[in-house]
Amino acid sequence: YKLWLDYQPIEESQLKSEVGSLLDGVYFFGENPTFEAIKNELDLASKSMLGKAPIYSKERLQNTKLWIGTRDQLSQVLSLDQQAEIKALGEDGYWRGTVELDGKSFYAIVGNQPVGTLYGVYNWLNSIQSNTFDKSTELVDAPKIKLRMLNHWDNLDRTVERGYAGFSIWDWHRLPGYIDPRYIDYARANASIGINAVSLTNVNANALIMTTDFMKKAKALADVFRPYGIKVFLTARFSAPIQLEGLKTADPLDPEVIAFWKKKADEIYSFIPDFGGFLVKANSEGQPGPHEYGRNHAEGANMLADALAPHGGVLIWRAFVYSHEDEVDRHMQANNEFEPLDGKFKDNVIIQIKNGAIDFQPREPFHPLYGAINETNVGMEFQITQEYLGQATNLVYLAPMWEEVLKSKTYKPSANSTVGSILEGKETGQKMTLIAGVSNIGTDRNWTGHLFAQSNWFAFGKMAWNPEVTSEEIAEEWTKLTFGQDSEVVSKVGEILLESHETAVDYMTPLGLHHIMGRSHHYGPGPWVMGGRADWTAPYYHQADSLGIGFDRTADGSGALTQYAPEIVEKWSDPNQIPEKFLLWFHHLPWDYQLKDGNTLWEGIAYHYDRGVKEVRQMQQTWASLESKIDPEEFDHVRQLLEIQEEEAEWWRNSCLLYFQTFSKRPFPADIEQPE
Ligand code: GCU
Repeated sequence: YKLWLDYQPIEESQLKSEVGSLLDGVYFFGENPTFEAIKNELDLASKSMLGKAPIYSKERLQNTKLWIGTRDQLSQVLSLDQQAEIKALGEDGYWRGTVELDGKSFYAIVGNQPVGTLYGVYNWLNSIQSNTFDKSTELVDAPKIKLRMLNHWDNLDRTVERGYAGFSIWDWHRLPGYIDPRYIDYARANASIGINAVSLTNVNANALIMTTDFMKKAKALADVFRPYGIKVFLTARFSAPIQLEGLKTADPLDPEVIAFWKKKADEIYSFIPDFGGFLVKANSEGQPGPHEYGRNHAEGANMLADALAPHGGVLIWRAFVYSHEDEVDRHMQANNEFEPLDGKFKDNVIIQIKNGAIDFQPREPFHPLYGAINETNVGMEFQITQEYLGQATNLVYLAPMWEEVLKSKTYKPSANSTVGSILEGKETGQKMTLIAGVSNIGTDRNWTGHLFAQSNWFAFGKMAWNPEVTSEEIAEEWTKLTFGQDSEVVSKVGEILLESHETAVDYMTPLGLHHIMGRSHHYGPGPWVMGGRADWTAPYYHQADSLGIGFDRTADGSGALTQYAPEIVEKWSDPNQIPEKFLLWFHHLPWDYQLKDGNTLWEGIAYHYDRGVKEVRQMQQTWASLESKIDPEEFDHVRQLLEIQEEEAEWWRNSCLLYFQTFSKRPFPADIEQPE
């Protein structure tokens, strides 16, 4: 339950006495709700780490050692250089280090704003827990992304769309009167990893959230989150004017509709003065939107953005748009709809684009909209909940996948652009930057269902703060905070984490295969899936036939590949040059096509599936070897889940290979475990 904030007693004696002495004399420069939150955290941490409460002093110079404040508050004691350095870090940045006054030295944690100070305190506590605190080095840090946001897909009846860790933690029924202490722990956990925004409700939105009663409930949550620097967003249902006010239309150019949204925005801000804004899914998967009225995404988004603008609100419009009635390759629909609108969106609109063009697959090439629209604010949507990645049963650390996407070169708008540099605003000068992640949090005791799924929440926050950090660094940090310092544990858990994503890709969708999961629930294999609609009917995504397998998206096929920059088109159009991990995403190739290692495509597919199973067994062994070093309950929880994962990896391998064999009509390589 305590996540990575489960402060452990400090064992190292020098560190213990150093931290003990700092916490014996804590001085706050002023009072505000965020400093109260810091006190609360210091109380909790100190009691666990040192077995005693901190001593707070009212007198700055009397026996104080640890100073906590903002740059303004400490302006008398910081040098001009230090002040300039801190100022340059922006709102959420902080500095920590030693300051001298009257021959005495003090350890100071200083943010530009109170929330920056809070981030600095979490960072300091984290350094103590991971044994890296060094009083003599100065440290500065600031996020590279402005909005670091969780998207809850939580419904008002507490079910969670694609949630695998129990029900929604928002107890709408008892709000606003009852504040579950869990809300505070949720805010602490988020603030400790830099998350500063949350959209509370499902993108498949319920208009009721825009009623006064629900606004009051949302306000109660916003009040809890505010001291932790977290802003609340809500999802807006485009047809709400019809549903709530009985209007005949939701046409974004209709004066009554415009007035409705303006009134709603004004009302929300009367409850939540720092309300973040709306998140909207429109004209996608049957959700209402401007297209019903012959209007485009920009007209829809701008109308809502105008309602929010007087209050400083942001309108986040999702680019996950596809219609099953559209014959075109689903991969292309977002670019087709958004590229012509580039530059037409208001300044307070951000287009939130998934990492890939299909839908949170185990591995996807980056979305071709990155780099294609450069006069519009863009933001990332990752999925932390493992919808297509074994949900809360399989151990899959997602950070390597996100890192791969963030580091992908787009070659647009400039030769060195990457998805990450675009998101940071380096390419277009975009100021309002955003990385969002679909939450994996629920009422389960451990929050995320699988203990290791906590690492994905943690890693998401860290990567949203700094998209340049590596998944390896985060893995090490999370492991130390979760399982302690033991070097064997750190290295073996690190191994498990870092290999887990490739393992899942191997036993689920190797070599660029995708969307072959069971229909609708997306759990387990279903390449044979039948029915529903064209793109849910085999062989839509894998295109297996007697000749070969894979989705031809080159210029000769659907053409989706041509939406990327010419550098990519040139390389990826050639099956011999495209990275093999994306081979079947873009090419339909003969079963005997020769892979780089000399195997045929058919053999390669078989080896990948087989390797996936073997890798899960390796994970099991590695975990088993740590039994004496891990809390027995946690050990057993993970052991049991890994057993299921092994069975399921076999299920994936056997069923996919046997199914594809009905097309390939070739034997399995003799040296793999024969599927049956
Ligand atoms: C996926 C997911 C849906 C979700 C949708 C979205 O299709 O399965 O549950 O609503 O993505 O991102 O809007």
